[in-house]
Amino acid sequence: MIKDITIARPDDWHLHLRDGAMLEGVLPHTAKDFARAIIMPNLIPPVVRGADAKAYRDRILTALPDGMIFEPLMTLYLTEDTQADDVAAAHQSGLVKAVKLYPAGATTNSQSGVQDFDKVTGVLERMAKIGLPLCVHGEVTDHEVDIFDREAVFIDRILTPLRQKIPDLKVVMEHVTTKDGVDYVMENEKNLGATITTHHLIINRNHLLAGGIKPHYYCLPVAKRESHRLALRAAATSGDRRFFLGTDSAPHTDDLKEHACGCAGIFSATNTMSCLAHVFEEEGALDKIEAFASLNGPAYYELPVNQEKMTLVKEDEPVIYPEKFQTGAGPVTLFDPGFDLYWRVV
Ligand code: DOR
Ligand code: ZN
Repeated sequence: MIKDITIARPDDWHLHLRDGAMLEGVLPHTAKDFARAIIMPNLIPPVVRGADAKAYRDRILTALPDGMIFEPLMTLYLTEDTQADDVAAAHQSGLVKAVKLYPAGATTNSQSGVQDFDKVTGVLERMAKIGLPLCVHGEVTDHEVDIFDREAVFIDRILTPLRQKIPDLKVVMEHVTTKDGVDYVMENEKNLGATITTHHLIINRNHLLAGGIKPHYYCLPVAKRESHRLALRAAATSGDRRFFLGTDSAPHTDDLKEHACGCAGIFSATNTMSCLAHVFEEEGALDKIEAFASLNGPAYYELPVNQEKMTLVKEDEPVIYPEKFQTGAGPVTLFDPGFDLYWRVV
């Protein structure tokens, strides 16, 4: 039985760090294990212009505790008013590594997102030209569409025509949650990758809804039925270069999660690597965890693999993580995988 594994230090290709006291509270959890992360721009107000991203990056680096090394990879929030020249300049300077597309109303702080996709064609064409990836929250927001079908419908209605119109645009389907999403990526060789979260490898919609509603398992896209979870597991543990880790770790304080209209988001930064080692071991694929967490992401983003290493050790006794921790913004509950974790990052 394998008792330890050493991999290149991982990165998180989809992360919410927030701002202010929450940023200070959660950043060390990510910086402890991850060398870099793609930082989501859905702040209030959103990170829209290059100057906003520069200021946010400075705030992140100021919040980083002394002695920790972490590189935030900044993104811009695409709006119908986004200027192609501003995007190109932010990319050219090395500051911005992707642009994020939220369909308006799809999720937390997405009010400023895109309603009319024709209005962003110019920016997307420019991004295709300069090789800047588009990270996509792939859900339609049409109230007529069932929330469990919103990803599949997005692929048909929005993503497929968009990629036909601008085939040179590099796209990352963020947090795929369905077999439809996995199949779409598998059918497309060029300019398409996908992130998969820790929690979507572990929970299905029963975890969220059966036996009482569990607000700490509520996220968007919402967890789907078991057959979809199994498709995600197969994709993540296959080693296929198109799939890589994006935790979508998204902290909200407990009062906002345990609420009549609770926020979407699962905080998993602290125990993601323990959870992933458990999942990959269960699938007999520990030899693929490095591809998923450390190699495929940099390859897609055309960045170097981290030189530093991380070792995971399997303990005989469960590794205990706190159920929640305090931040200056309030308490945040950590993702509970629902089973004991034995893998520890050393
Ligand atoms: O669960 C989610 N939380 N999904 C998202 O798309 C946004 C995120 C957040 O910002 O809280
Ligand atoms: Zn997210």
